[in-house]
Amino acid sequence: MQNTSLIFGKKIVLGVSGSIAAYKSAELVRLLIKAGAQVRVVMTKDALEFITPLTLATLSQHPVHSDFTESLEQGTWVNHVELGLWADLMLVAPATANTLAKMVSGASDNLLLAVFLSAKCPVMVAPAMDLDMYAHASTQSNLETLAQRGIGIIAAEAGFLASGLEGQGRLAEPVHIVTQLEQYFQKLAPLYGLRALVTAGPTHEPIDAVRFIGNRSSGKMGFAIAKRLAELGAMVTLVSGPVSLSTPHPAIGRKNIETAEEMLHACLGEQANVDLIVMSAAVADYRPAHPQLGKMKKADALLSLELEPTVDILAELGRRKGAKQILVGFALETDHEIEHATSKLTRKNLDLIVLNSLRDTGAGFGHDTNQVTLIDKQNNLVSFELKSKSEVAHDIVEKIIALCTI
Ligand code: CTP
Repeated sequence: MQNTSLIFGKKIVLGVSGSIAAYKSAELVRLLIKAGAQVRVVMTKDALEFITPLTLATLSQHPVHSDFTESLEQGTWVNHVELGLWADLMLVAPATANTLAKMVSGASDNLLLAVFLSAKCPVMVAPAMDLDMYAHASTQSNLETLAQRGIGIIAAEAGFLASGLEGQGRLAEPVHIVTQLEQYFQKLAPLYGLRALVTAGPTHEPIDAVRFIGNRSSGKMGFAIAKRLAELGAMVTLVSGPVSLSTPHPAIGRKNIETAEEMLHACLGEQANVDLIVMSAAVADYRPAHPQLGKMKKADALLSLELEPTVDILAELGRRKGAKQILVGFALETDHEIEHATSKLTRKNLDLIVLNSLRDTGAGFGHDTNQVTLIDKQNNLVSFELKSKSEVAHDIVEKIIALCTI
């Protein structure tokens, strides 16, 4: 079962400052880890009075830092810049009035503040303090200033406070904080809710127990597309032929197959569950008609292999396509490229075709770069220059987003 939380795979630095509400950060870390985030905790010295770093280290499965120096004897220090660069999001929870004020002024007298000043990622704060401190013009003006600088504010909640008073100032409940983080990541994920199937790599068609007919596809293009779709929030199933690539994003569910027949079944099995299919695999057009069970023996005579056509998976998917389903195919051509690609687009009932020309150097199989032309069914045509496959994946996915919103 794929984890569908938008927090899945996200890198979160949690800054804990010295409020009684620091005890809630244990629950917060637990929820973030459960949602699939990677969490690194940074505490202020005052926070250590309220919750032990051991609790948070155990829950986050990583050491907790509260000091610039890691070991005075060995002269090692905590690299706050690296932590700030590592994170997809920094969350300060609980954020005391003191920490908020220092975040506004730019003070850097503890590790949490140094990480904050180094962070290149978005930052959110969840204040926690007594109601009068929270309502004070200084605190409210600090929160406003932080909000104006693009920092997300997770408002304190109302209820009983540690002081015995009742009012607004309690740290938002951890589950509410997690919901707000999910809402934040959703804004960055225009494809959230979209279910996609991507195929990649070659197929291997057995000749006998040890030999096969294959092709030079590396799978890089399809993997880059799957990664980009997942980065933008889509739930991706990647059906991959035999390649030596690791799954590029934690939110991708992967199915490995070997033959065109297995890829056909995997795709047909998924088709009804998805909104988008990108068929970038280099599927064999023919396979040995009578693969041998054991290993074929060598002989002096000529050997001919009888080949039979495989099913054109893309065409089959096109025939069964749902009304709102988007189907994207590839075309690898050597001559009359546009003409052939456009004909495949129509014949296979596609919404978009990605054309590679074998005449372009650096494009297609085995390269880290690719040069493509995108043609949609309204005959809009856009040609890109030679780019890295990851950049090409961005272009293709951008076009897919445009098709989804038409
Ligand atoms: N394709 C497929 N099943 C096959 C063969 C190809 O789904 N048995 C898909 C590929 O994944 C690709 C598209 O069809 O998205 C075009 O593949 P390509 O090899 O360029 O074209 P073919 O349709 O096989 O035609 P030809 O080889 O004659 O150019």
